[in-house]
Amino acid sequence: MDGALPLQVVFLLLLGAQLGAGAKYEPTWESLDARPIPDWFDDVKFGIFIHWGVFSVPSFGSEWFWWYWQGAKLKPYVDFMTKNYPPGFRYENFGPQFTAEFYDPQQWANTLKASGAKYVVLTSKHHEGYTLWGSKFSWNWNSVDVGSKRDLVGELAEAIRNTTDLHFGLYHSLFEWFNPLFLFDKSNSFKTRTFPNSKSLPELYELVMQYKPEILWSDGDGDAPDTYWNSTGFLAWLYNESPVRDNVVTNDRWGYGSICKHGGYYTCSDRYNPGHLLPHKWENCMTIDKRSWGYRRNALISEMLTIEDLVQELVETVSCGGNLLLNIGPTHDGRIPVVFEERLRQMGKWLEVNGAAIYSTKPWRAQNDSLTSGVWYTCKPKEQAVFAVFLKWPANRNIVLGEPKASELTEVYLLGYDGQLEWIALGDKGMVVILPRLGPATPSWGWTLKISNVN
Ligand SMILES: *[C@@H]1O[C@H](CO)[C@@H](O)[C@H](O)[C@H]1NC(C)=O
Ligand SMILES: *[C@@H]1O[C@H](CO)[C@@H](O)[C@H](O)[C@H]1NC(C)=O
Ligand SMILES: *[C@@H]1O[C@H](CO)[C@@H](O)[C@H](O)[C@H]1NC(C)=O
Repeated sequence: MDGALPLQVVFLLLLGAQLGAGAKYEPTWESLDARPIPDWFDDVKFGIFIHWGVFSVPSFGSEWFWWYWQGAKLKPYVDFMTKNYPPGFRYENFGPQFTAEFYDPQQWANTLKASGAKYVVLTSKHHEGYTLWGSKFSWNWNSVDVGSKRDLVGELAEAIRNTTDLHFGLYHSLFEWFNPLFLFDKSNSFKTRTFPNSKSLPELYELVMQYKPEILWSDGDGDAPDTYWNSTGFLAWLYNESPVRDNVVTNDRWGYGSICKHGGYYTCSDRYNPGHLLPHKWENCMTIDKRSWGYRRNALISEMLTIEDLVQELVETVSCGGNLLLNIGPTHDGRIPVVFEERLRQMGKWLEVNGAAIYSTKPWRAQNDSLTSGVWYTCKPKEQAVFAVFLKWPANRNIVLGEPKASELTEVYLLGYDGQLEWIALGDKGMVVILPRLGPATPSWGWTLKISNVN
């Protein structure tokens, strides 16, 4: 044997190593939850959510239109239908009207890019069950068969990937309000699994193989446990074998009770913004329209968040270790309503100047200031820089910061302004920074102090 391993042993060792690499994750939460979230996700901080579907046709009330009309039978929805549609009109009849004639994915990609966002998440299928791609598992209730006759998902994926550096992600609803197979399983207390086996799971595999999403944003557990959805089986495949296994990021909505507990990053609840640092990566998904994710024709301008609101939401979220996923709702004919476009472009303008305080930052030891409200911190440890974003410009141009402990080496800059700022140390009680007079061109929705060499 003279010290060399016999060939069979070498072969077995190689095989073992390969099997080990191929089946890194077991289909258990214990194993799946231990997968580190790919680094890119924490670096990018800001994404755009797009809620688009057949609900964009009635575009009344909310994307939950079908359920509110025929499930909960809420009066405003029932009245809206009685007044405006002939008797016997069914939700399915909205399908052919989802025409998307103005849908220009390249224009969408340009607008999304202009917002400074680094990822996008499109609703490939919401609770209504209609798929925005020609799914083999959604016969006659998908965008290629009914409506625009286009692959809405594929066209956006291509435009985003060809011309932007945004990561492409897909939302997918597990359950469907009125799917007879789901309702059948539900009537059996989810002891039968006809719906996941014939619909939701095949769809998920199809989506991943066809569009290779870098985010899979799961939603809508329908009060069924993850065992019903076989979420751990699917995720083990996603992380071990799928074409996106190395880079894909998922959320936490994989079955009743899994939210804020299992999966990838935590979303916890819609518009989640805890205001303090969390030990696990999280995302704040929220809307520009305070009352709906889908487009509503009956929205008022007073119901839209202002750019000041949005900047505040972004800096609070990022300071506390989260990402912001900001939602817009396009119209049935494929337009991004101009109010959403304006907010996105404003965000982009703000990030052009202040992006250094957002992208690729880490939470600092303090999230907000102890003396002045509306001051939020981030940092870049490698550059020994702390960023203080402040949302109100002090009338006397002196801003008191209770947290940073300055030394002789400390330097203070205002992003977008040339030259160092003067400051006065308050011992271990912080510092006072004297702000310059700004030109009229500076976006006035929040400003960033870059403080280097500070503790
Ligand atoms: C995207 O790039 C591919 C490959 O280069 C090309 O075939 C396709 O026409 C491009 N599509 C668009 C919408 O630019
Ligand atoms: C769950 O998914 C895995 C991976 O696709 C599969 O091997 C397994 O058979 C599935 N389990 C059930 C109960 O469907
Ligand atoms: C810091 O943020 C927390 C959470 O939003 C808030 O309760 C607290 O009042 C803030 N501190 C100041 C000084 O504003």
